[in-house]
Amino acid sequence: MAEFVRVADIAEIPDPGKTLVEVSGDMVALFHVGGMFYAIDDVCTHDGGPLADGELRDYKIACPRHGAKFDIRTGAALSMPAVRPTRAHDVKVEEGGVWVRLRSAAGAGGPPLHGTIAAPVVPTSTCCTPAASREAGESTAELTGAGGPLCEDRVREMLKEVKDPELFVNIVDLGLIYGVTLSPATDVPGKQHVSIDMTMTSPACPAGPQLIADTKRAVGASPEVSAVEVRIVMDPPWTPDRMTEAARDQLGIF
Ligand code: FES
Repeated sequence: MAEFVRVADIAEIPDPGKTLVEVSGDMVALFHVGGMFYAIDDVCTHDGGPLADGELRDYKIACPRHGAKFDIRTGAALSMPAVRPTRAHDVKVEEGGVWVRLRSAAGAGGPPLHGTIAAPVVPTSTCCTPAASREAGESTAELTGAGGPLCEDRVREMLKEVKDPELFVNIVDLGLIYGVTLSPATDVPGKQHVSIDMTMTSPACPAGPQLIADTKRAVGASPEVSAVEVRIVMDPPWTPDRMTEAARDQLGIF
């Protein structure tokens, strides 16, 4: 596997912002949005357009040539004329810098790591949203590392890595997460037991088992978590109005 390469200082890239960097000879578009850093190839899969030159809006970058949009978090192609994803790479934030590790192919090795500016020291009873951490002035750490107590907001951020395999929209923005409860693990001191109430878009959703497994994997990867429990809740039933604006935008629903 390739090594992480330091490509920029944190302060060089405003939030929101983007820049073009070179990683081991490959040109990579690097993004800073919502306190997180993301990296994808600077190559539109339609016809090679330079994505770092495109317009960045939320988590989408528009190719400056013919307008195809890509998700900067995953490299997924979101609109025509591009239909194939571009490569998304691993990112970490460490020692005041942003580091990128190249992936071999789009989608290879699971979801890419995203670099985050983590929360500062805060009271243990206080939840640590990325926005709050930025306002307070922060130190650096990796996404799954320490930097603040585990809280519902952080778990929901982790859950955004899980996507409905048919809609390609994350389960948080789809409105599938009804509740997140954390409690101290009785078996492993210092760790948390996470219970997630989750619904499906339909009672017979064929993607259900995969979504449950992906949900457990995404949250269970945190070193602060001892166990993840997923409860399927069908009451109240899911309805499209539970989707966020980002999800509607992604699905072309207005
Ligand atoms: S080259 Fe990017 S949309 Fe055509």
